[in-house]
Amino acid sequence: MDQKTVLITGCSSGIGMALAVRIAKDEKKRFKVYATMRNPNKSEKLAEAAGRTLGRTLEIKQLDVCDEKSIKACVDSIPNRRIDVLISNAGMGLIGPIECQSLEEMKAVMDTNFFGLVRLLKGILPDMKRRKRGHIVVISSVMGIQGILFNDIYAASKFAVEGFCESLAVQALRFNLNLTLIEPGPVITEFERKVYEEGLKTDLSAADKETANMFTNVYLKNYNQIFQSLGQTPEDIAKHTHKIITTNKPPFRHQTNNLYTPMTTLKYADPNGDLPIDTFYKMVFEHDKIFNASLNFIKMLRWGSRKSFNLGKPQQ
Ligand SMILES: NC(=O)c1ccc[n+]([C@@H]2O[C@H](COP(=O)([O-])OP(=O)(O)OC[C@H]3O[C@@H](n4cnc5c(N)ncnc54)[C@H](OP(=O)(O)O)[C@@H]3O)[C@@H](O)[C@H]2O)c1
Repeated sequence: MDQKTVLITGCSSGIGMALAVRIAKDEKKRFKVYATMRNPNKSEKLAEAAGRTLGRTLEIKQLDVCDEKSIKACVDSIPNRRIDVLISNAGMGLIGPIECQSLEEMKAVMDTNFFGLVRLLKGILPDMKRRKRGHIVVISSVMGIQGILFNDIYAASKFAVEGFCESLAVQALRFNLNLTLIEPGPVITEFERKVYEEGLKTDLSAADKETANMFTNVYLKNYNQIFQSLGQTPEDIAKHTHKIITTNKPPFRHQTNNLYTPMTTLKYADPNGDLPIDTFYKMVFEHDKIFNASLNFIKMLRWGSRKSFNLGKPQQ
């Protein structure tokens, strides 16, 4: 059987780890997974979760998306440099008022989330084009469609990813390549914990009182509640992505959380762009009690959302 090779970035934790394990455990053994991470000293958890697939359908390799040499070394180590499915997952977050963030911090986010993808494709796309075969899957975010309060730089990095992929998609089609943006809403991973803890430590002295208060008493106060109500698990995202890579005609965009879809739909409902901004403003500042009650109500609806996931027939 012709096994497809899958290269995934950022597999030391969260979505990347869940993806690697899920795809390596594919019942029909359709994939050979190269699960990569920038620091292989962190591979213990993945090795444990991979179980018997380790050394069979899953191999762990070093790859830092911020280092072109590391990308080249990893791709060169794969037989015939053949990657059938590339899953660009590595990423980092940043929250807070921009006046309290250094340009270095902001550049690190862009360098990882956006230029990390660009570096990967510079290394992998030419081979895919030559073979006229391949699927590029990018773990984007609903924040690649819609900005969220105090996520200015992170959302900008995901918007960059979306614009880049939308431009590339037409060319990809010419080479018979598929390109898919996976757009999760909140997912409960290390990412969420790290970002929140960094947020708590933010030195707010450069911000005015109103902004500092908004960040601490509105944004951070609701942060956990939003993840608890709307948050998916990394395994949910892995399940969606597994289905996407086994679908005959994968879509260009795929949102994983249909509880979040009404929010992103607002964007398309008003070409002026005021509707989502006004709605977010009212939700946060004028109807915060209703907003919180809705989040609690949504918790109860979560099971329904899982049941409604359906992407059509997987490939045989
Ligand atoms: N969690 C969410 O709410 C959420 C929602 C939507 C989209 N996403 C996206 O999902 C992706 C995965 O995030 P996650 O939630 O699974 O977070 P996570 O658990 O923090 O995982 C992020 C992964 O990226 C890796 N990484 C960071 N910089 C890297 C680099 N330069 N080279 C290679 N790997 C690097 C991390 O490695 P280290 O362990 O070495 O740091 C880690 O393995 C990200 O692109 C994120 O933007 C997350």
